[in-house]
Amino acid sequence: MNLNNKHFLKLLDFTPAEIEGLIDLAADLKAKKKAGISHRMCEGKSIALIFEKTSTRTRCAFEVAAADLGMHPTYLDPSGSQIGKKESIADTARVLGRMYDAIEYRGFGQEIVEELAKYAGVPVYNGLTNEFHPTQILADFLTIREHFGALKGKKLVYMGDARYNMGNSLMVGAAKMGMHFVACAPKKYFPNAELIAQCQAIAAETGAVLEFIEDPMTATKNADVIYTDVWVSMGEPDAVWEERIGDLSPYRVTAELMDNAGAQCRFMHCLPAFHDLNTTIGKQIHDKFGIDCMEVTDEVFESEQSIVFDEAENRMHTIKAVIAATLGFLW
Ligand code: CP
Ligand code: NVA
Repeated sequence: MNLNNKHFLKLLDFTPAEIEGLIDLAADLKAKKKAGISHRMCEGKSIALIFEKTSTRTRCAFEVAAADLGMHPTYLDPSGSQIGKKESIADTARVLGRMYDAIEYRGFGQEIVEELAKYAGVPVYNGLTNEFHPTQILADFLTIREHFGALKGKKLVYMGDARYNMGNSLMVGAAKMGMHFVACAPKKYFPNAELIAQCQAIAAETGAVLEFIEDPMTATKNADVIYTDVWVSMGEPDAVWEERIGDLSPYRVTAELMDNAGAQCRFMHCLPAFHDLNTTIGKQIHDKFGIDCMEVTDEVFESEQSIVFDEAENRMHTIKAVIAATLGFLW
């Protein structure tokens, strides 16, 4: 497989075979890391990591992956660069493209990362935009493969705000990989009609099934994976909390929903998660609205069925595969 010099901006740009190939490569790199086998496939190269929004997993995954590959990473934090304020995206791209072999971008609109890619002259990776979070999906799918042996035909139910980066990206990924995807939310939180139509067309080729269901008990029946994400995403105003809590509380992942799905079901979450009161925002929301968890109960989050930390670890192995593949590794 040859993905040399390609950008990694959204899964819509990749074939099912390429996605599967990246997951295979990640599994191989994971095995090498566990066995202590050196895999410095990008020795001497460098990568710029632009974060206009905060991060724990994505930043650390890129930094560790780069180091394991023999690369030098530079982290640009949300306030520590000229980007957007004093220098346009196109100019930034052309500057960084002269110094670095690859650029990661986390920020706001998808059009920003697409523009960066247009001008950079080196591979650009989407580390999360409002619309898509494609490196997260590779990690999620590696994790599902590890737990279920395959992706095709597996039923993944996404609970909550399905019209944002995680709902959108999981729907695209599931359509590409022939999975059974269900968005479970009030209608106004379903992905937009244009993206649904695009994914239905992909599903017609791959055998995927895409459903949009408002009732949680109907949606979660026989699910292999119940997946959720925060109800308010980075960059959204605090003013939306009240409405989201009102709209999405019936979609909280509870032990009752997990039981309804069946013993085979696993719980997944891209993290960070509001499952207890051990965060500043969790406490503020509790003081204001009287709830002690949001999108998932602590019981489910801490249960044997929860595979969220396998998922988090796999961010690093899958991001490493994306970097190695786009910087010339053939497999
Ligand atoms: N899942 C994820 O992208 O986490 P971070 O925001 O910590 O990078
Ligand atoms: N929807 C979340 C995902 C975080 C990984 C956000 O954009 O904040």
